[in-house]
Amino acid sequence: MSSTRDPDADKRLAALAAVAEVEAGMLVGLGTGSTARHAIDAVGALIAKGMRLRAVATSLASARQAEGVGIPLLDMADTAAVDLTIDGTDEVDSALIAIKGAGGAMLREKVVAAASARMVVIADGSKRVARLGAAPLPVEVVPFALASVRARIAALGAEPMLRMADDGPYRTDQGNAVFDCRFGTVPDPRGLAARLQAIPGLVGHGLFLDEIACAYIAADGVVSRIERPVQ
Ligand code: A5P
Repeated sequence: MSSTRDPDADKRLAALAAVAEVEAGMLVGLGTGSTARHAIDAVGALIAKGMRLRAVATSLASARQAEGVGIPLLDMADTAAVDLTIDGTDEVDSALIAIKGAGGAMLREKVVAAASARMVVIADGSKRVARLGAAPLPVEVVPFALASVRARIAALGAEPMLRMADDGPYRTDQGNAVFDCRFGTVPDPRGLAARLQAIPGLVGHGLFLDEIACAYIAADGVVSRIERPVQ
């Protein structure tokens, strides 16, 4: 979709539209990233107004933000079911298949999404794509398996780039490494996901196939809501 004049204002608009789905008593999944930040602030504002809510966070960074705005957090390790998760995305197509993980949180994000009765993604208009694949696909790899996973991904046709931080290789909240993989366009996301999942030592990837029920996309101040058709 067309670029936005103020992507951050659009991120906030999309977040507020999604947070309007939050109801008293819910256990809310809190996403990660610059768009999810707006949703976390808005959930904190609901609690400040007296709504009873609890939440789980998809990253240590989101947990810190949530604690800062007064959201009571549960440990995901003790939580099997979440009511509503609100998270950002790097790309989403019209079938609500997405690439996530630019922030490195895709493994926890998928665990929380899969446990959620409903997951919605929020984004500015730049994230809406006709075909997935302009964004690199992040995959999370246990450090022991770096070389073997790199070779397997290369054999699938991508160029795996080891993600770096200022002080060396980037590490996820689990202490794992990330390869950002350029596959070009992704015509068969289900096939690619299956092939990635079969690689020993690759513990997560950013393709979200069936998790997303709805996307709120804001472009130039206008929010569109895209619901997954009931199967
Ligand atoms: C975090 O790992 C990601 O999946 C984010 O949800 C995604 O990168 C979107 O982030 P922004 O909202 O910052 O673009």
